[in-house]
Parts: sequence; C-alpha cells; structure tokens
Amino acid sequence: MNTPETNPEENAYDVLPYPAYSFPATHIGRLGAIGQLFGLETAEPAKARVLELGCGVGVNILAMAQLFPEAEFVGIDASQKQIDTGREAITATGLSNVRLIAADFSKIEEDLGKFDYILVHGIYSWVPDSVKEAILRIGKENLNPFGITYISYNCLPGWRMRGALRDMMLMHTAGIPDVLGKVSQAKALIKFLAESCSDETPYGKYLRQELDLLTKVDDSYIAHDFLERENDALYFSDFLKSADKHGLAYLGDTDPATMVADNLPAQAAQTLKSLNLNLIATEQYMDFLRNRMFRSTLLCHSGSNLNRNIEPTKVQNFYFSGYISLKQPHNGGQPAVFTTLNGAELNVSDSITATVFEAIAKGGRSLRPVKALIEELVPVLSENKKVKDPSTLPTTICQLLMQGYFKKMLDFYLSAPAATPSGSEKPAALPLARWQASRGDRLSTSSLDMLKADEFVAKLVTLADGNHDRGAIVAGLVEAVEKKEFVLNENNQPITDPDRLKAVIEGLYEGALRNLATLGLRISDAA
Ligand SMILES: C[S@@+](CC[C@H](N)C(=O)[O-])C[C@H]1O[C@@H](n2cnc3c(N)ncnc32)[C@H](O)[C@@H]1O
Repeated sequence: MNTPETNPEENAYDVLPYPAYSFPATHIGRLGAIGQLFGLETAEPAKARVLELGCGVGVNILAMAQLFPEAEFVGIDASQKQIDTGREAITATGLSNVRLIAADFSKIEEDLGKFDYILVHGIYSWVPDSVKEAILRIGKENLNPFGITYISYNCLPGWRMRGALRDMMLMHTAGIPDVLGKVSQAKALIKFLAESCSDETPYGKYLRQELDLLTKVDDSYIAHDFLERENDALYFSDFLKSADKHGLAYLGDTDPATMVADNLPAQAAQTLKSLNLNLIATEQYMDFLRNRMFRSTLLCHSGSNLNRNIEPTKVQNFYFSGYISLKQPHNGGQPAVFTTLNGAELNVSDSITATVFEAIAKGGRSLRPVKALIEELVPVLSENKKVKDPSTLPTTICQLLMQGYFKKMLDFYLSAPAATPSGSEKPAALPLARWQASRGDRLSTSSLDMLKADEFVAKLVTLADGNHDRGAIVAGLVEAVEKKEFVLNENNQPITDPDRLKAVIEGLYEGALRNLATLGLRISDAA
C-alpha cells in the first residue's frame, strides 16, 4: 500500500489520510434486509458482531456503533495515524462497543472470532493478490453461518477507460517524489488534455467529464484511487470465481435496483431476458450495458439456501428510508411528480401509488418502521374509491414499497436506531455527528450519508448534546455569531443587533431541529 516513490516503510495513508467517511451501502441494517429478502437468516443488527477490514479512521463503524449500542464492532487498519484519530473519536463519543486495531489485517486468524457482517470497502482493488486472498479467506473463515461479507472493488468494463487516465497520470508523475506533488501534476495533466481536445469528439467529452470529477474530489482520493501502485479492476464474474474458490457465493448487490433487468431501457431488458441467462451472467451483461466501473458485492457461505422469489410482505417488520422528494402532489386528474436520486422526474398517476410514494417522500432519509407507515396509510387509503377491500391494503403497501425498492426510491433496513426523537426539550444529536461538527467535518447521518452541514447546523449539532434546553442552545448559537464563528444574514446583511439576532435564531430553532430529525441526525431527546 505504498505509492511508487514513497518510503516502503511509510504507510501512504499516514502521509495523506483518506477522508473519514461513512458509507450508506455498508449499513448493517440495509445488508441484513437484503440478506433476509433473499432468504438468508441474517443477524439482527442490534446484537450483531461486525468486522471492518481497512477501516481507516473507523467513522463507518462508529456511525453504526452509536445506533446499535449492544452490537460489537471491530475495525482494523494498518495506518496508525488513522487509528489514533479514530480512538480520539471513540473517547469523544463515549462509545464502548467499538475496538480499533492498528495492524496488517492479512495476518489475522480465526481467533478474532466469527462475525455477522464483514465489511471491506475501498480496499480489494488496491491491494496485492496475496492481500486479496487474505480478504476472501477472512471473509469466509471469520463469517458466521448466516453472515454477509461485503467487498467493493473497481470493475470492468467501466474502469478500463479510467485505467487509461491512470496510466497517463503514472507516466507523467513517475519522477515526482512526494504524493502531493504527484496529485497536483496528475490533475494538471488531465486539465491540459481536457482543455486541448475538442469536446466535439467522444474523447474530449470523456476527458471533460473526468476533469469535472477530479476537481470535485479530495486530493487523497486521487492519490489513492488513481496513483496507488496496485489498482486492479475486475469483471464481476471473475470476482465471483475467486470468491467461489474460498467457499463464498453471490448473495446480491448493495444496490438491488442494479440487479433488475427491467430497469434497463425496454428493448435491452427484453433482449437480455430472451437469452435466458442465470443471475450472474445477466448481471455481467448489465455491467457491459452500463459500462459499470464500481461494485459493492455481498457474499454469503456457498451452499446457503437462497430464495430469489421475494415475498413482499417480508418487509412488514422492516424499516425504510426514502430517496425521493415530492415536486407536485397528486391532485384530481394531475399525476404526482417526484424527483428521484439521480434528479430524474417520475410521474405517478395511480392515486394509491401516489399516496404511498408521497408518504415515503415526506419522511426524507429518516428511518421509519414499515408498520407505522401501514398504520398511517390504511385509514387514508380506505377512503380511496379504488380500494374495494381494505383488508388487502397492508399487502398492497408492501408491494408498492418493494416496487420502489427495486427502482431505488427507498431503502429497507432490518432494524433502526435504539431511540428516535421524542420531541422533548433537550435534544440530542448523534454523538459522532457532534464530534465531526466540532472538527468541521461532514456529518454521518443514521443512514450513514455524509452531510455537508452549514455553520449554523454544525453549531446546533455540537450544542444538542442532551444536556441543553432550547434557551441554552439559542444562547450558544447567539454567542457563536457574536464571537464571529459564523455569520447570520438577513436581507443579505450580517445581523449585528443582539436582540434581532436572538429573535432570528429563535425563529429558526424548531425548524432546524425538525430538519435534523428528517436528515437522520438526532437519536434521542433526554427528558
Ligand atoms: C482507500 S483506503 C479505504 C479506507 C476506508 N475503508 C474507506 O473506504 O474510506 C484503504 C485503507 O486500507 C488500509 N489497508 C490496506 N491494506 C491493509 C492491510 N493489509 N492491513 C490493514 N489495513 C490495510 C489502508 O491503511 C487504508 O486506510
């Protein structure tokens, strides 16, 4: 794991640590739900044992450890610097169910025990073959019988094109000794190429698109994702052959919508279906069609009794969280209009479907029980003239949720955080978010999204620790503005009058707290 010209004794992640992020795709509640939908008796997250290999700072497991205080989390990373930062976060958050180990994970043996979820994100493509073997060995040997091993990797054919950029970057920066210098020159090269090639050619268009990405990402992403010595992209089917040699089988993708041919253009879906391929071959062809470049694959023990015919009512005991927002409600003859995750608009004419999707959109990314949604919607939908037999409504709602799930309109979770906001006077934000806010980092939500909070929200999160009531939090926010920690504007002018400042903050307070709950940043309110 060293960049070409750095000292081999020096860990490249000590020199330029990777951004400490949590990853929604790794949420054990999500993984558990995918497992159960496909017939695996996955462990309840509340009591699970979770191992993350190459955890970096460990933010991903810390974000889950605070949600599931009785579950146990172990993270291993070779970078002492990142582990030390993670330990600071453990102290600051008071979490007692996470252990971070600074070590080479390829040396660990079965004695670390068995785990229900093994997470390996952003590692497999960037390590030598011997470490890839170790990941699969641990993913098998340390996995409980109904466990899930998550492995993400760069895949082909999509990474083939990006690989050409990497080759040029490596050639151009070969003589530069330090990582930061390499990154800066790598970016300069792609800028030069993109600006020199006509965007009327496919190559010019592609370069501009990649340049756009490179200007948005952190330098450490470029250093590690493009310039690492190891960077192996694999075909999905080849990855599964390697997994099979270790006794691991394909359970599913962390984005189940990508497993469904019906999400392709109609003609492509029809052709693919007419070929009568098995699931793995179908997905491989879908990678060709989508030019896919990244995968997060879920593995289980070979021989597990999986069932691909999903029974929709299985989700009755699940939780869910939405990805869609409502642009225009269903109104008489007017269809409801929703905006999906990729910005596309979705028109829904059927009034029953529209009611269910509107309720999903209303709750945003917060995690809610499907049962509560059913209880809320059955009385509403019973009034709908199209409903002949209200006793069928719970099943109809589950079917519609399932449709939405396989169109990436929502996510399912096996279980949710230990506590949810009760609306009392002393709000508490997630402890990890408080630590992140105090450092100016992005905030991990309860669905593990990374939220870029503005200064007002960040300050509110640090103050919402369960010990401060409304008056104290408002006073803290006023003080922060007075100390020039951030500026609050009215009519594009900074507010300086103390009384006006207090009144404005009081006016924002309730809405901001509601917003925190919708975003999944509040866990509980102390009495
Ligand atoms: C690209 S970063 C990914 C970190 C984190 N999983 C993420 O996605 O943000 C790769 C991490 O793997 C760690 N790593 C690579 N090989 C390792 C090994 N053999 N043992 C322990 N850690 C390793 C590195 O130190 C680094 O923190």
